Amino acid sequence: MEKVNHRRHASWDACYEEGAGPKTLQLSTRSRSLLLSVVVAVLTTLFLSNHWHAAQPHDVDAVDNHRISAAELEYGLSQCALNQQRPTVDKSLPPARLAQVRHRPGGRTVLRNATLVDGDGTVTPGCHIEMQGGIFTRVYTSDEAPLHPSAGEDVTVVELRGRVVTPGLVDIHSHAGVRMTPQLWATEDVTETSFQVTPWGGAIDGLKPHDPAIPIIAAGGVTTSLVLTGAKNVISGEGLVIKMKQADSVLGLVLQEPCARGGETHETHGKPKPKPQRYLKMAAGENQKRQFQNTPGGPVTRIGESYWFRRAYEAARRVKAEQDRWCDAAASPAGRRRLTSEYPRSLEWQTLVDVLRGDMRVHVHGYESEDLLAVLDHADEFAFNVTAFHHALHSDQVAAVIKARGIAIVGFSDSWGDKQELYNVSSYLPRRMADQGIPFALTRDHPAEHGRWLAYEAQIAHHYGLDAAHAIASIIGEPARLLGLENRLGYVRPGYDADLVVWDRHPLRVGATPLAVFIDGETSVRASDSFWDMSEGAVYGREAPASRPSDDVGGACRVGQSDLVVRGITTSFIGADGTRTAEAKGSNLTVVIRAGEIICVGQGPCDNAARQAADEGVPSVDLQDGHMLPGLTIVTRQHGLAEMRQEPSTTDGYSEGSDFAHPLSTRFGIKFDGIHLEKSYRAGVTRIVTPPLTTGFLHGISALFRSGAKSVLDAGALPKPDAALHFTIGHDGKNPQTPSVTAQMSMLRDLLTTDRHLHPVYQRAARGDLPVVVHTNNKDVIAHVVALKRETGAHLVIMGGAEAHLVAAELAAADVPVIVAPFWGCERLFFDGQHCLPGPPLTDALGPQALLAAGVRVAIANWDETNNHIRNSIWEAGWLAGPANHSLALDLVSRNIEDILRLPPTRDVVLYEGNPFEFGARVALIFEEGKVRSCYPDVDGLSH
Ligand SMILES: *[C@@H]1O[C@H](CO)[C@@H](O)[C@H](O)[C@H]1NC(C)=O
Ligand SMILES: *[C@@H]1O[C@H](CO)[C@@H](O)[C@H](O)[C@H]1NC(C)=O
Ligand SMILES: *[C@@H]1O[C@H](CO)[C@@H](O)[C@H](O)[C@H]1NC(C)=O
Ligand SMILES: *[C@@H]1O[C@H](CO)[C@@H](O)[C@H](O)[C@H]1NC(C)=O
Ligand SMILES: *[C@@H]1O[C@H](CO)[C@@H](O)[C@H](O)[C@H]1NC(C)=O
Repeated sequence: MEKVNHRRHASWDACYEEGAGPKTLQLSTRSRSLLLSVVVAVLTTLFLSNHWHAAQPHDVDAVDNHRISAAELEYGLSQCALNQQRPTVDKSLPPARLAQVRHRPGGRTVLRNATLVDGDGTVTPGCHIEMQGGIFTRVYTSDEAPLHPSAGEDVTVVELRGRVVTPGLVDIHSHAGVRMTPQLWATEDVTETSFQVTPWGGAIDGLKPHDPAIPIIAAGGVTTSLVLTGAKNVISGEGLVIKMKQADSVLGLVLQEPCARGGETHETHGKPKPKPQRYLKMAAGENQKRQFQNTPGGPVTRIGESYWFRRAYEAARRVKAEQDRWCDAAASPAGRRRLTSEYPRSLEWQTLVDVLRGDMRVHVHGYESEDLLAVLDHADEFAFNVTAFHHALHSDQVAAVIKARGIAIVGFSDSWGDKQELYNVSSYLPRRMADQGIPFALTRDHPAEHGRWLAYEAQIAHHYGLDAAHAIASIIGEPARLLGLENRLGYVRPGYDADLVVWDRHPLRVGATPLAVFIDGETSVRASDSFWDMSEGAVYGREAPASRPSDDVGGACRVGQSDLVVRGITTSFIGADGTRTAEAKGSNLTVVIRAGEIICVGQGPCDNAARQAADEGVPSVDLQDGHMLPGLTIVTRQHGLAEMRQEPSTTDGYSEGSDFAHPLSTRFGIKFDGIHLEKSYRAGVTRIVTPPLTTGFLHGISALFRSGAKSVLDAGALPKPDAALHFTIGHDGKNPQTPSVTAQMSMLRDLLTTDRHLHPVYQRAARGDLPVVVHTNNKDVIAHVVALKRETGAHLVIMGGAEAHLVAAELAAADVPVIVAPFWGCERLFFDGQHCLPGPPLTDALGPQALLAAGVRVAIANWDETNNHIRNSIWEAGWLAGPANHSLALDLVSRNIEDILRLPPTRDVVLYEGNPFEFGARVALIFEEGKVRSCYPDVDGLSH
């Protein structure tokens, strides 16, 4: 009980301390529960000097003979007064805080010479930023005289030398704290799925302040999150805004008014303080019918979902009407005397009553346009407004409707493919929303996608055409505004919360990493001095990357050409024999292709060959900042075997992984259709390795195949039909039949030693003729694999490898390579990978970087079962290798994979315009099997 009382009334308790008396009622959490109502009633009775009461005509003596108590009447009258009031954004807060700053504890911090990229994307170089007592106190440029500290004053000066600074990032859709990571049944408190509608639910009741993800998300520069309840039921409850701080209780995380910090109170000219901003989560679409398909009452269809929405709002409408009748009666002394019952309360429906009154910002999860329109229909029926549609990846189909209603879209830039409602969606959506003037924010839906990488979401949107200012605004200023907190968050302005990120490069660049993160003026995380020093180099660009080169599609490129001259190349990793070489740079290199072969690459040496080709009428393509690379080879979980993981009919099906006598081969099941292969190919991933699907231990034998082939009958469709033998060791929780890890390790050993006659493939594996890929993240399983390697001649490879850095020396000594997936090697989503290395600014290196430093052979790939965005692998390689080592970056996604899996080296050549290791480049031409196979493919849309 005590705990509940405390956290719900934290902010105003703090304001009432030291006998200050109730200045205002600040409900920074929620005011809807019965419990709270009772407390409010008691307080209201105690403090009759309260402002609303002063404003309410009433006569306390007159209630003496009434059938309801004085306390009940007072409570009801206070509610009636509150019903007239709406939450507003208090613009007087920043100046009021500034006026009181000298009463705030703590020293002054001055950040000198920052390049400020503000929450709306505005850039101000040479900016000095001062903060004190948790707020920004001064923001000025070098032209103005800097404020010199007086003797004895506690001032910390940080010299930034032009480094980029942004306000703290704001993630407006997170489940941090309510879906704690590593994920466990015990801490899964995100959706109360016992009912179809639970508007009485609140994220605050499930929030765990010690979720280890919170400081990790902060290390990505995210300083504020709206923690929402889940999207499994139709109305799941109320969210809350937290700062991404370390704290021992929820109290330490919720946004508090400054009075809770310094004893300061903020008078708003005798008026009551604005009602707090509050947030409701609703959801429409696939999740609900999937969740309730076996529950009596459903919903099992969208028809049922609509019924549950309307039924809930109908109940709320009745409660509201009763309350309004009560208030009408209570408005006059005569009416008050006739009151026989207390103000109508409803534990179940009050939150929705608050929606109907306009006190809640309504956030709706939904993807398909029909789901959005259905929700708008219900909103019209019950007369409430929707603040934002979340995910909404088809919202461009109903853009006019959304725009007319002033609704915002809270989307993703690169989540697709997993189920029907997000199967075929476009990464150009953010740009389209911006073009139409629709407010747009980006989110990660942590932990669906790890909240730490919110900036990556904006980077990808920028790559797909969203201008830099909107990209920045989509993760800072716009979500702050959608929260109704643009008077505190999202900008580096005097009087605002001192939440700020110092970046090692422009936050829209590949690999951008915070050097320091401040929350409420205090350092939340700071990278090591050596990491700060490293970011001094010129390679860490401080401007947003250039957007994509012109759409001018090199007129002479034709699919099917085997004679071609390409000019305008500035970087080549391909030599005159058409295979990988060291990086060659020039201002205008030329490549000449004759009869399907590259015959020369260079600046001067190609002149003759180029002239001769021109004389013979061979067409010539001029690139802008051309980059010539080999096609990439990526190992993946389900490309070619699953289109929508959540629709079984679109997959190959999953084996139980226990039929050791009949190991399966991907080569017999692979399908060359679908958007996963198409999008990979168009991005320059020309070869893919996929093992068979299993829910258990033994996958079977992977195939190396061409992502651009039409079918298995194409010449060269399968450059290596038997690539490797794959096992997953561990439990993914899907298959209760999965044997213990002990049993899996024993079986692996038996297959490679005693039982190798079960099928010829095990003999080949035991001899080292066929690589054995063990999918695991756990350090001890990895160590067992190293031990096994010592016993056999097998070529063992780790894939996943989140904890591999803990046995890096042993892996290097035993020559056991690691294919890391995801590339940063660390999500801590599950228990068996929780000791991954988070990387800077928390540690100096990411796991894969530590492995490289220890001499382990490393490649990066993708084992993500929801998104499969292997087309991003080239950026991720650039991220890991750093901006000065494109050669390493390329190796991570091509040669190292070939070496580790002993695959034939690729002879595919991909020409890009722009630096493909940075955002903004595009594939110009794919040359494969002696022919041009693709000219300026649209990497995202499938329009041409
Ligand atoms: C700010 O930093 C930039 C980049 O290092 C430098 O060129 C400039 O002179 C600095 N300005 C001041 C006022 O220190
Ligand atoms: C919905 O928005 C309109 C237009 O801003 C406003 O007049 C109305 O009061 C809002 N309704 C609710 C219930 O918030
Ligand atoms: C994906 O959507 C695009 C654009 O609406 C359409 O042209 C294409 O046919 C769709 N592809 C699939 C496989 O559904
Ligand atoms: C490269 O040189 C060719 C002629 O040698 C010229 O036509 C082309 O414009 C040049 N390209 C660039 C980007 O300078
Ligand atoms: C790139 O990284 C590789 C592997 O760590 C290293 O051997 C090489 O020296 C690096 N090159 C540069 C230019 O830093």
